[in-house]
Amino acid sequence: MALFLSFVRVFSIVIPIIMSHFGQFDARTSLNVLSFGAKPNGMVDSVKAFSDAWDAACGVVDSVVIYVPRGRYLVSGEVRFEGESCRSHEITLRIDGTLFGPQDYKLLGKKKTGLVLVVFTMLRFLEVLLMLREQPGGIAKPMVTIALKTLRFMDSYNVRIKGVLSLNSQLFHIAINRCRNIKIEDVRIIAPDESPNTDGIHIQLSTDIEVRNASIKTGDDCISIGPGTKNLMVDGITCGPGHGISIGSLAKSTEEQGVENVTVKRAVFVRTDNGLRIKSWPRHSNGFVARVRFLGVLMVNVSYPILIDQNYCPGDSSCPSQESGIKINDVIYSGIMGTSATKVAIKMDCSEQVPCTGIRMQAINLTYYGEAAETSCTNVSGKQLGLVTPSGCL
Ligand SMILES: *[C@@H]1O[C@H](CO)[C@@H](O)[C@H](O)[C@H]1NC(C)=O
Ligand SMILES: *[C@@H]1O[C@H](CO)[C@@H](O)[C@H](O)[C@H]1NC(C)=O
Ligand SMILES: *[C@@H]1O[C@H](CO)[C@@H](O)[C@H](O)[C@H]1NC(C)=O
Ligand SMILES: *[C@@H]1O[C@H](CO)[C@@H](O)[C@H](O)[C@H]1NC(C)=O
Ligand SMILES: *[C@@H]1O[C@H](CO)[C@@H](O)[C@H](O)[C@H]1NC(C)=O
Repeated sequence: MALFLSFVRVFSIVIPIIMSHFGQFDARTSLNVLSFGAKPNGMVDSVKAFSDAWDAACGVVDSVVIYVPRGRYLVSGEVRFEGESCRSHEITLRIDGTLFGPQDYKLLGKKKTGLVLVVFTMLRFLEVLLMLREQPGGIAKPMVTIALKTLRFMDSYNVRIKGVLSLNSQLFHIAINRCRNIKIEDVRIIAPDESPNTDGIHIQLSTDIEVRNASIKTGDDCISIGPGTKNLMVDGITCGPGHGISIGSLAKSTEEQGVENVTVKRAVFVRTDNGLRIKSWPRHSNGFVARVRFLGVLMVNVSYPILIDQNYCPGDSSCPSQESGIKINDVIYSGIMGTSATKVAIKMDCSEQVPCTGIRMQAINLTYYGEAAETSCTNVSGKQLGLVTPSGCL
């Protein structure tokens, strides 16, 4: 378990969004955003400069690098990086500076939902390469209450994001929608633990996604996995504070794509509200969850380390009161150790209409403040192998 703990780290800097430093250039065409009018002084809006640099890069037939040198760049509206009409087949965005959104939401004001800082769409190949640099002396800024998403990828293919530090986004930090072959590595995401809906990484309707070596501290899910996610690998993640890793919420609508072939391995959860959670609204739906692997997870004082909740209904008002139609089948929990902050460490509240099947548990040892923990399970079947503590679900 010591191996897993090496992923745990503590950071003290709080600046809106930092993306930093990458090593040296190679010989590819390089476009510096300063020559497009970007100002590294933190005062002048650089949205147009970034867009212009992107347009120029798109026109380059060869591989091209867009370079953002050190400095602080104010981004006071959405920057859209659209790949649809790009001629370049390989664009690298190298950021050695800090992009930050406005502190005063009245600047952005109008829209209540979905204001996005940086959007990437219709890409065929993109590398966003950044390397983290500590920012000593960073000052804590108060949270503002606008809906601001930080990085959003839509309809994109073959994207690699490395080394992003995303701070205090007001909604999802990184959102992946309708994408294929996306690799996210070495990222850190930080938001206050009381901030609502600040999911670290949200994935939906996407295939072949990898998240490796991520540290996520947030007020909502560290990683949320929505309908239509297929072939997802999450390896080496530290989560907390936050709501853990969630598949769901599913059954948001009656017609929904399933979640299939998801692996979460080598994860550490520290004082999160949940650990490994699968949740669906109590609504009929043709969605499903199949072939999920949770392998090698350390829980440190986690409220519900293992949770399947098919009666998910936060706030408990105006919820549908049907049996969930989401069929959950073939889920393996293996090597799940540590401590639960509640007596019930394993809870599976499955649908009566389509009970959970093929649930497998092996090498599980969860305790409650040194005492035995308990299970609470309904409509679940499967099998357990070897040590499973607490036992009683299968
Ligand atoms: C994990 O990511 C951090 C940055 O978040 C980096 O400093 C560290 O070297 C990475 N670890 C590995 C094993 O790649
Ligand atoms: C399941 O996903 C993994 C990546 O996590 C991939 O390597 C594997 O090929 C997928 N399996 C199937 C049957 O698609
Ligand atoms: C566990 O977390 C709870 C709050 O969720 C806290 O009150 C308690 O002190 C923590 N226990 C330990 C042993 O860290
Ligand atoms: C389960 O974990 C507890 C404390 O975390 C430990 O004392 C106990 O020996 C473990 N049980 C087994 C069978 O490994
Ligand atoms: C689901 O669980 C309830 C309560 O334990 C039980 O009455 C019911 O028969 C179960 N349904 C199925 C389909 O197993």
